[in-house]
Amino acid sequence: MFILGIESSCDETAASVSENGTSILSSVVSTQIEEHKKYGGVVPEIASRRHSENILGVVREALDRAGKTLDDMDGIAVTYAPGLIGALLVGVSFAKGLAMASGKPLIPVHHIAGHIASNYIAHPELEPPYLCLVASGGHSHIIEVLDRTVFRVVGKTRDDAAGECFDKCARALGFPYPGGVHIDKASALGDPEAYKLPVPRVAGSEYDFSFSGLKTAVINMFHNASQKGTEINRNDMAASVQKTISEILVTKTILAAKDLGYKKIVLAGGVSANSGVRSTLSAACEKNGFELFMPPLSLCGDNGAMIACQGYYNYLAGITADVSLNAVATMSIEKI
Ligand code: KG4
Ligand code: ZN
Repeated sequence: MFILGIESSCDETAASVSENGTSILSSVVSTQIEEHKKYGGVVPEIASRRHSENILGVVREALDRAGKTLDDMDGIAVTYAPGLIGALLVGVSFAKGLAMASGKPLIPVHHIAGHIASNYIAHPELEPPYLCLVASGGHSHIIEVLDRTVFRVVGKTRDDAAGECFDKCARALGFPYPGGVHIDKASALGDPEAYKLPVPRVAGSEYDFSFSGLKTAVINMFHNASQKGTEINRNDMAASVQKTISEILVTKTILAAKDLGYKKIVLAGGVSANSGVRSTLSAACEKNGFELFMPPLSLCGDNGAMIACQGYYNYLAGITADVSLNAVATMSIEKI
């Protein structure tokens, strides 16, 4: 079964053709990062315009590279939530048009479910149930994946997402947007013990995250240093930030796994590209005898392959939509 997957929830216009979910025949990603970099973050209006301009070419290229036509597709999967509403609407409207014109099923995909599905592409042997840590620019969740289309959120961020924290700290360090990858690179040259950063306590749920205090602490350290005329070592601060974020994410995930009885852990989302998060989680899983699955770097960020893959499983589960499908900016993965 061939599925065309379309993704436009943030600043990447992406499309992919998959065969039976996990076999990827093509994956085309057109990123807008260079344009948003000038503004230090994603400008929603610009994102929507660029998606509108790029989507036809990206989808055509995905079909061409797969050696397929729209006629060969068995379904058209599209990210419909969550994300920037104007950006999502471009993908959703385009997919609706394709589905109407071709008579093919339209398959709505939740963006976070897509990130999780990137692991099925890399590890076809991976079967639910398992516990998944999803960390991206917009989300930080601990999710019980009960089935490929059934999710239960056990923990989430109360304020900033992990990727957002990486990016805001990177900005304080003078790195361009998106700064997560720059922190990762600088960390390799720094001492993670150099600066003591706060590990926030979250009242109410022991599996919830809070990252805004960490960002504020880093910004304050820079202000204090400039008032005193002292210097903050960029590499050391990057390494300290990366270590702290990694430990927060991993400690809560391992705690949830132990409490809920999971021995299989999965990592997903843009932040899963971070070397500190990967190594800290690997070490913790090894120590506790947990099996760990992580996406390859090529599938960590937003892409169409993960949407095509999850679209396949949604289709098998009977999750399809008609032309009344709308984009939704905020939606829990439990409601897909
Ligand atoms: O999943 P994603 O591509 O978009 C969202 O769904 O939000 O995640 C993007 C986030 C950004 O915050 C980016 O800085 C972060 O992932 N990121 C990283 C790394 N690569 C991407 N953060 C830390 N280290 C990295 N190597
Ligand atoms: Zn994403």
